[in-house]
Amino acid sequence: MTCNLVVLASGRGSNLKAILNAIEEGKINANVKLVLSNKKNAGALEIAKNKGIKAKFFDPSFFETRRGYDIYISEIIKKENPDLVVLAGYMRILSDEFIDTFEGKLVNIHPSLIPAFQGIKAQKQALEYGAKITGATVHFVTKELDNGPIIIQGVVPILPDDTEESLSKRILEIEHRIYPQAIKWFCDKRLKIEGRKVIVEGAKYGSLPINPSLEDF
Ligand code: GRF
Repeated sequence: MTCNLVVLASGRGSNLKAILNAIEEGKINANVKLVLSNKKNAGALEIAKNKGIKAKFFDPSFFETRRGYDIYISEIIKKENPDLVVLAGYMRILSDEFIDTFEGKLVNIHPSLIPAFQGIKAQKQALEYGAKITGATVHFVTKELDNGPIIIQGVVPILPDDTEESLSKRILEIEHRIYPQAIKWFCDKRLKIEGRKVIVEGAKYGSLPINPSLEDF
């Protein structure tokens, strides 16, 4: 069965693009039903529109509370009957109600090896900390910010002359592979959540730089 996805994004949308490419190439049996943004000029909205995908901006300033906004967008999202809600650079903290509504079918990508460097500017945090390794993580979303059960992680080295830009670029290459892979596994019903642990059934564990190993990307 085709997996219905709703994507929430605030920025340029390169992860959305990677997901859409994977769908177009037939690697993920899914349909992006809606791309929703809290930013009027999000590149992600353009990417969706150009592909004929429904793309909507909802202005948070029209709502008095975060909760009010989130309840409103939850209703819009529910109408699409999503199997999975995908946060792809959605730069807004979600209210507890929103997270409860989509529990177990809400995923995020974060540009670090969580639990290290949670929150904004994770790449800059890693550089300033002097870390030698960082990476990217796809995880289920829980009420702890950037810290739910981990599906897949990929590592990247930090080089002495790295800038925030060069490091972000290196991490992004990994993001564009692990996010479509995690979504494919979800849609293929291979993810089993046991408390904080996610098991990808039938996956190969134990190799680097990406664990569990990529199969399709
Ligand atoms: C990515 O680095 C992602 O990890 C973070 O926000 C950025 C979004 O980039 N959550 P893009 O909009 O997908 O290009």
